[in-house]
Amino acid sequence: MTDLRALPKDFLWGVATAAYQIEGAAREDGRAPSIWDTFSHTPGKVANGDTGDVACDHYRRWPEDLRLAKELGVGAYRFSIAWPRVVPLADGRVNEAGLAFYDRLTDALLEVGITPFPTLYHWDLPQAQQDRGGWPERDTALRFADYAAVVAKRLGDRIEHWCTLNEPLCSAWIGHLDGTMAPGVTDLNAAVRASFHLHLGHGLAVQALRAAIPKARVGIVNNLSPILPGTDNEDDGAAAQRADGHVNRWWLDPIHGRGYPADMLEVYGVDLPLQTGDLATIAAPLDWIGINYYFRQVVTDDPSRPAPFVRQIRGPNLEHTAMNWEVHAPGIEELLLRVTREYGAKKIYVTENGSAYEDSVAADGSVHDPKRVAYLEQHLAACAGAVEQGAPLAGYFAWSLLDNFEWAYGYAKRFGLVRVDYETQRRTIKSSGRRFAEIIAAHRSRV
Ligand code: NOJ
Repeated sequence: MTDLRALPKDFLWGVATAAYQIEGAAREDGRAPSIWDTFSHTPGKVANGDTGDVACDHYRRWPEDLRLAKELGVGAYRFSIAWPRVVPLADGRVNEAGLAFYDRLTDALLEVGITPFPTLYHWDLPQAQQDRGGWPERDTALRFADYAAVVAKRLGDRIEHWCTLNEPLCSAWIGHLDGTMAPGVTDLNAAVRASFHLHLGHGLAVQALRAAIPKARVGIVNNLSPILPGTDNEDDGAAAQRADGHVNRWWLDPIHGRGYPADMLEVYGVDLPLQTGDLATIAAPLDWIGINYYFRQVVTDDPSRPAPFVRQIRGPNLEHTAMNWEVHAPGIEELLLRVTREYGAKKIYVTENGSAYEDSVAADGSVHDPKRVAYLEQHLAACAGAVEQGAPLAGYFAWSLLDNFEWAYGYAKRFGLVRVDYETQRRTIKSSGRRFAEIIAAHRSRV
């Protein structure tokens, strides 16, 4: 039994999902397309031609999904609100039906005693806003803040915890530099501008949330990775520094009032479209910091690749998930301690952590996923280790409640604690879900 005694008494146990990955109902109740609808409907962009058109049909089946969350015993549910449902054309016109969906969900969560923990942006930019230039343009940051204000006004009487952005690194670097996520751009200049406007949008959204909700507890979710040089030669050491700048410091420094890392500004060689006061806006004080952790990165120097000129190589651990991500639980402990010690974090949530494996469905229909169970236990133990060393970790959200649309990988990669049969939409709690429920119950009974 994993020893989790170090975790605080009021530790928040949760599960996480995101709108485009589970909701489906892409055309319903006034929703307009997002960049992910466009991207997934572009041949060759998503494995198997999968789209989020139906996904887990959560838009209709959410009461069942809440019952499942309740059965796991979680105290919080991290979901995302779809901007293209609420302000579908990003022109300020509010779609009441879209807003009403999240209103019902919020009430139902509160009724069963689960704390709603919404994220305002989990990658589904309204396509209409992309058509006006998307994140590389300042206008998108301003529109995002307007949308945040609309949501805050409607749900702020009942929701305290708010998360502005999910993994802005992916929106900027994967969406605009690698191009393997929506909107599928491969342009360093656009990527750096996007990163800056995501930060600006975050800062403005913090202002909007605080203006509307005096008791709001606001944070941002970053995906971070410890970086290890592939060899001990100097070039690889320097590559690891750049990778750390690209993956970690670029995302942590500005929101902590440190501006953008000078070494990375030099590596990118792109001028930020900074206006007076922007850095202060971006550094708006937060109530908590969210960390999504999946893997560490082992890198070597590679000048032939785009900035930051590094190549990721396979990590030394033998175990890799179905995503081919190295399983390295100490990485989560390292990150929690780094954010505590280097950035003075006062409250941290692990807002996502989880693993994709191919599940085996037994003859009786039950789903045994021992590797996912082991991943969960190891990472929770590492979290408890970080707490013992002083990390102010206040909660842990497992990714994910359900198997879902894994972006460019489509439905082939399953992260759920609950299996979804996409033919029938039947849900089955996996062994990992049962184990998570036991861990939560054991922690509660001990404190
Ligand atoms: C992080 C993202 O926030 C989530 O949407 C995704 O499914 C998981 N990583 C797994 O890749």
